[in-house]
Amino acid sequence: MAKKAAKAKARTASRAKKTTKSATTRRKTAARTKTTARSKAAIRRKTATRAKTAVRRAAAPKVSAAVRRAAQEVKTSLAVAEMPEDAIALLQQDHRAVEALFEEFENTQKKADKAALAAKICLELRVHTQIEEELLYPPAHRKLEHDLVDEAIVEHASAKELIRQIEAMDPAEHLYDAKIKVLSEYIKHHVKEEETEMFPKLRGRGLNLHALAEQLFKRKAELIRGYAKAG
Ligand SMILES: [Fe+2]
Ligand SMILES: [Fe+2]
Repeated sequence: MAKKAAKAKARTASRAKKTTKSATTRRKTAARTKTTARSKAAIRRKTATRAKTAVRRAAAPKVSAAVRRAAQEVKTSLAVAEMPEDAIALLQQDHRAVEALFEEFENTQKKADKAALAAKICLELRVHTQIEEELLYPPAHRKLEHDLVDEAIVEHASAKELIRQIEAMDPAEHLYDAKIKVLSEYIKHHVKEEETEMFPKLRGRGLNLHALAEQLFKRKAELIRGYAKAG
């Protein structure tokens, strides 16, 4: 009898040991799975960040030395600039800045000064059109009539094509001044539509224009920094 009881006790102890062992194994496996999932998520996050950086780097096109110099100048003034209170004020400030540059260009005769001004105009417009397309037009497309935003995108494309041509030219070349003049006319028309139709309609449509200003300001500085060191 005593032998039988001892055997039963041993069997129970062995089962208990096995149960404890398998529970420990399960805990270890679960911990390992959790760690693996966490590392996988971290790798995914890193890969996504690298991909985003790569896209942004790839998106920064090669620019002339004049555009790079213009960007270095703008970068310095932007570092001490105050952020406008809302997105619309920020974009209108950009519009006034480029209008002033076009006016200055019209009153300039020296080829070297013309080249420097044209580089500034092209840089301002490259950055302005990009931040609008990345951050303003998508919510505007959702909130307003699609035609309004679609036409703005097409107008940007025409302006960008002219900018590419101007950047590849020398101020002494035939049609240089004419191209700057036509670009200023395109921009005048486009700005009028934005300021009299798109921007007023965007107010009161539930957009956080202050938060959007922060995003536009940040992205603008980022793009200018990119151009300042672009090759
Ligand atoms: Fe625009
Ligand atoms: Fe604009």
